[in-house]
Amino acid sequence: MNVQTNHSADATTVEEALAADNQQVVDSESATRVAMSNTLLTPRFYTTDFDEMDAIDVSPVREDWDTLIGQMKADPNRGHFKKNEDWDHIDWDGMDPALKREFIDFLISSCTAEFSGCVLYKEMKRRGSNEDITTLFQLMARDEARHAGFINDALREAGIAVNLGFLTQKKKYTYFRPKFIYYATYLSEKIGYARYITIFRHLEAHPEHRFHPIFKWFKEWCNDEFSHGEAFALLMKTDPKLTSGRNVWWIKFFLTAVYGTMYVRDHQRPAFHKALGVDPDWYAQSVFEKTSEISKQVFPITLDIDHPRWMPTLKRLQKANADLALAEKKTGLSRLLGKASGSLRAAAAFVSLYTIPVKRHDVPTQTRLEPAY
Ligand SMILES: [Fe+2]
Ligand SMILES: [Fe+2]
Repeated sequence: MNVQTNHSADATTVEEALAADNQQVVDSESATRVAMSNTLLTPRFYTTDFDEMDAIDVSPVREDWDTLIGQMKADPNRGHFKKNEDWDHIDWDGMDPALKREFIDFLISSCTAEFSGCVLYKEMKRRGSNEDITTLFQLMARDEARHAGFINDALREAGIAVNLGFLTQKKKYTYFRPKFIYYATYLSEKIGYARYITIFRHLEAHPEHRFHPIFKWFKEWCNDEFSHGEAFALLMKTDPKLTSGRNVWWIKFFLTAVYGTMYVRDHQRPAFHKALGVDPDWYAQSVFEKTSEISKQVFPITLDIDHPRWMPTLKRLQKANADLALAEKKTGLSRLLGKASGSLRAAAAFVSLYTIPVKRHDVPTQTRLEPAY
């Protein structure tokens, strides 16, 4: 049956969501260019060994799996991700230019990240033949297409749109082995939940800082991300090897990389955080605490984010990256030296973070969690 859908929020499949009217954008070149860029700090597109993922047998977690899929099929957020009477008018022209620049950058980067999930999940669904796996990935791709479509609605009001079709075809894909996809994607879903709920709760207490209506949608939004993270936790639970032995070093690597990237990226947006009334250091720690607590459901370690070396080293990492960005704008020898110095200091800071001893704990037999923040 071919259902005509006008908005991605009402779509029941990812195909419908991507074909919806609000996704059909006139390209705005500068935004698409930003979304196309591939640096250490910008969201990437991923590809993987889809056959290996398709071979996963979810029998060991069958009961939790069926409950989770049932919840996602019930689709409590259908119709949610579109503008309604709660959507306040935004005076884009009157917005402080620094805030406007950073906020648009935030929206473009969020849209790219949402869409990156959509593309990966949709491809898994298309390539797979394992019904458990394809069902899950279809549901997650549906959600991410809605999220990306909603951000595009917000961007369009500012006269900007990211051309998602163009991105799908032209953006570079990074290959990750399936186990790295699990670690990276699990973490990005859970940290996404923690980021959205922290902002949502903060603005609940301080509505005067809510400078854009999109933040009102963050609660249901983060619940979707929470479910996606649950699915990856269950996938990892099907094979104990994924979270033991040498792989624990990989888990530590991904935790450090994901936390470090978030810290550096957020500190590039001072005006955005000031408008929200949020101290980026407080925000980062608060998000790390929540993510660490949640990730105990499946990871046998958490990073020691209260270690005396943690915060000072994150600050050094951030400074090195800021200097690196400055050096990029120079020419000749000062560019070369600046880049070398920045890269070396960034690498040294990362190694320092990575060598902070971890906290170990037992992983519960029962994996499933519900959003609690
Ligand atoms: Fe999402
Ligand atoms: Fe997600």
